[in-house]
Amino acid sequence: MTQDELKQRVAQEALKHVVEDAVVGVGSGSTVNFFIDALAAIKGRIDGAVAASEASAERLRKHGIRVFDLNSVSELPVYVDGADEVTEHLAMIKGGGGALTREKIVAAVAERFVCICDASKLVGVLGKFPLPVEVIPMARSYVGRELLKLGGQPVLRENVTTDNGNLIIDCHGLSIIDPPALEAKLNQIAGVVTNGLFAQRSADLLLLAEPGGVRTLRARAVERSSVGHRPVLS
Ligand code: 5RP
Repeated sequence: MTQDELKQRVAQEALKHVVEDAVVGVGSGSTVNFFIDALAAIKGRIDGAVAASEASAERLRKHGIRVFDLNSVSELPVYVDGADEVTEHLAMIKGGGGALTREKIVAAVAERFVCICDASKLVGVLGKFPLPVEVIPMARSYVGRELLKLGGQPVLRENVTTDNGNLIIDCHGLSIIDPPALEAKLNQIAGVVTNGLFAQRSADLLLLAEPGGVRTLRARAVERSSVGHRPVLS
């Protein structure tokens, strides 16, 4: 089974977590693209979507799925997104596609974060994948120096401007033993918009596509947040 087939399978599985007659939060990346394509089949059963990137918004619209501004949405029962790395505690590195800030905002609003990945994304310790940090352009050099002090090797992502008009520094060489602490520390650096650690608000549910099927890993609080919602494909 190819990696794309695994992504497609987990994207299909995620439909079971989409809530009927509600707006669904949609992340970005190649796995999410498969999810958007799968979502098109049930678009009549949802109100629409909030997208974490311009690229996802465009793909949703092409499928005829209504895209809402996050500011006009008061309830977001579920957010579906991929990850670059994820631990069994459901902390993640995200931002390989550069959409980390909007992803973190939509994830913060959502009651439940459903992470969809193929098995290659599951790691024991985060940090082999370079940690993306979104920075205000004038702070680029300063933030780079601060990342060096923390033991990382910062590399500016060439020719990339985020949907928010900022830059991405990819920080190599970090072994992230305490993800929530590093997430908070990096966000304290002046000029950092946000960083790609999703540990303070980690996923609630991980759907992991393996050759033998899709495995579900749950965070402890997840059942509490699902009360009162009816999944589309129940
Ligand atoms: C984009 C992301 C993506 O979720 C992450 O990069 C995974 O992407 P893919 O599904 O293509 O492997 O965080 O900013």
